[in-house]
Amino acid sequence: LPPLFLLLTALELSWSLSDEEKKIILDGHNKYRSGVSPPAMDMLKMSWDTELEAFAQAYAEKCIWDHNKERGRRGENLFAMAPTLDLEFAVEDWNGEEKYYNLTTSTCVPGQMCGHYTQVVWASTHQIGCGAKFCEKIDGIETEEMYLLVCNYYPPGNMKGRKPYKEGPSCSQCPEGRVCVNSLCEVEVDTGYPVSSLTTEDPALLESSALDTEELETNSDQTNMDQPTAGAPNTFLGPSLFLLPSVILVGLLL
Ligand SMILES: *[C@@H]1O[C@H](CO)[C@@H](O)[C@H](O)[C@H]1NC(C)=O
Repeated sequence: LPPLFLLLTALELSWSLSDEEKKIILDGHNKYRSGVSPPAMDMLKMSWDTELEAFAQAYAEKCIWDHNKERGRRGENLFAMAPTLDLEFAVEDWNGEEKYYNLTTSTCVPGQMCGHYTQVVWASTHQIGCGAKFCEKIDGIETEEMYLLVCNYYPPGNMKGRKPYKEGPSCSQCPEGRVCVNSLCEVEVDTGYPVSSLTTEDPALLESSALDTEELETNSDQTNMDQPTAGAPNTFLGPSLFLLPSVILVGLLL
């Protein structure tokens, strides 16, 4: 057997996100969080969490187009795409639901999805970890050979009856131990304390643990899919995906 074939097979089996790809996802989230309009008083900067990453990767490997029922107290956004996986576009697509969301009334335009967006900009969510997998077949999607992206978040967003963030002057309500950088409340690094001790004292965490018994909104079960229209499976479709009717997505609402 040609060694190249074996190498490719091995790569495909062990494929997961590279450091560069993780950075694209994390930076994308922080970019949108930093730029929310109206501005946020309490928007925490997100950081990458390797445990969430491992959790998301393990679930992505299963190639299922449905939320992980074992996700516990973790938020989750899904995304599927072919023939390539454009991570910047995935985050942009989630955030793009912003246009359907009214922060004043905390409502979404009927028939649209907003839960991906509200998770992306959920102020108290400060950890993210994602995994991706090239799937020959995703259970729940007709199209074959698609990439599946799974992002898990902690603490989870989309708490019933809650707004994603508090509207007001940027950073005016950052939790203690955080400083304002680019309109985001960032963990102070030069305190001499280990980061973990800051994290356990994070008021946002305490607040969210008080929400333990609250149910996640039904529309927190968010899945999103972009796929090429028939006929050009090997062409990179890029920006044209923006024009895809949301009918495709609605059909996949769970
Ligand atoms: C949100 O809803 C309120 C109340 O219905 C309305 O006055 C406001 O214009 C809406 N905002 C946006 C951005 O649509």
